[in-house]
Amino acid sequence: MHNFKPEQIEKWDKQYVWHPFTQMNEWEKEKPLITARGEGSYLYDIEGNKYLDGISSLWVTVHGHRKEEINRAIKEQLDKLAHSTLLGQANVPSTLLAKKLVEITPQGLNKVFYSESGSTAVEIGLKIAYQYWQQKGEEKYKSKRKFISLANAYHGDTVGSVSVGGIDLFHKIFAGLLFETVSAPAPNCYRCPLNLSRETCSMDCIKEMESLLARHRHEIAGVVVEPLVQGAAGMVVAPEGYLAKVRELCTRYNVLLIADEVAVGFGRTGKMFACEHENVEPDIMCLAKGITGGYLPLAATMATDEVYNAFLGSIDEFKTFYHGHTYTGNPLGSAAALANLELFEQNKLIDALQEKILFLTEGLKKFSQLHHVGDVRQKGMMVGIEIVENTETKEPFPAKYNIPHRIVLEARKNGLIIRPLGNVMILMPILSMSLAELREVLDITYAAVSKVTEEEDPC
Ligand SMILES: Cc1ncc(COP(=O)(O)O)c(C=O)c1O
Repeated sequence: MHNFKPEQIEKWDKQYVWHPFTQMNEWEKEKPLITARGEGSYLYDIEGNKYLDGISSLWVTVHGHRKEEINRAIKEQLDKLAHSTLLGQANVPSTLLAKKLVEITPQGLNKVFYSESGSTAVEIGLKIAYQYWQQKGEEKYKSKRKFISLANAYHGDTVGSVSVGGIDLFHKIFAGLLFETVSAPAPNCYRCPLNLSRETCSMDCIKEMESLLARHRHEIAGVVVEPLVQGAAGMVVAPEGYLAKVRELCTRYNVLLIADEVAVGFGRTGKMFACEHENVEPDIMCLAKGITGGYLPLAATMATDEVYNAFLGSIDEFKTFYHGHTYTGNPLGSAAALANLELFEQNKLIDALQEKILFLTEGLKKFSQLHHVGDVRQKGMMVGIEIVENTETKEPFPAKYNIPHRIVLEARKNGLIIRPLGNVMILMPILSMSLAELREVLDITYAAVSKVTEEEDPC
């Protein structure tokens, strides 16, 4: 197609591309990693260097890069139809995928609304919940217009999903643009907002959620949660039972539970969906990332019949859900997703994960012995290693020393791609990685963390 030199691509990238979540001043000073090819668990840069993909290309890759079966499914679909709209039409792959999603997701989620990203999946979930109460038929429900969201939550970057977000670093600047929400404390056992300890507490954070619901039930449309793990908060794992309790409270106080499974869905936590760990059936569920196995941008917002039925009426009642994106239900993305889900079954991937999860748990133990590792968190194939200056006070290193980024560069030198969230080193290995590859992920990360925080003078 074209054969530009790496220096030329780097020059044009720096000249033309504005990278997400990136201080471009810093970017322009550094030699960027420019990927050119993928194969299994590895990415290759434009110069041919090989790296283990330790973050599943931002939490999406499931069966590895260039997976024959998914490639084939996309190519076959491409020879039939690349895109046609779902506005007033249907297409075969998106219909088959919707049927499949209804079969594999928790009971009750019987309708699928497509979009293209996790952010839009959440945005749609919020709008559906909002409109649901407006159309439920009783005047008393019309005041249910707000959402309860959790501190440190991350649900994406569109204005609605930012409104239910809670990460100051990303979200505070937009405060004036956002709608009002009710914020509940997040269950964060390493940095408990209530200053309690998990060994002795009785999950008091849920009591706070309950009192908010009791107080605000008349104005709350839904509670939005990342089931089991707050990913972007730094892989903060909720205590067992928290999610089930939220479900119970939502039912008791008559508000919808919106489960954002964008990060935790499709095997990440060791079950197909995180809600399964606690037998939770949400009213609305948001899916993206792993849905296409890391191939194409596709997302789904799923809803129960109860929610869906509130949108039914005669044409002049105007109960339609007036929302849709141009590429909604794209046939190529849907074909990739179908092939992805078939591979889950063929390879019995969820069963195969259990050994890998235990292997990770074992391998992570030694990290806690490092002097600047404050906490090691894991749920399934999601790992967060929190770096602190002082493990007693849990004080992080001053930002100016850029410790997490230095760890990333050190790991990259040794052939591993990782990416931090704040002071937390994130490992999100591809679900199909072998034990040997997982060992390499752990070893390179360990060496990088110890080199930067113990051998070099970190500050
Ligand atoms: C829980 C959660 N929800 C939503 C999103 C947003 O997804 P996207 O980046 O595809 O818009 C993310 C992204 O990391 C996420 O972790």
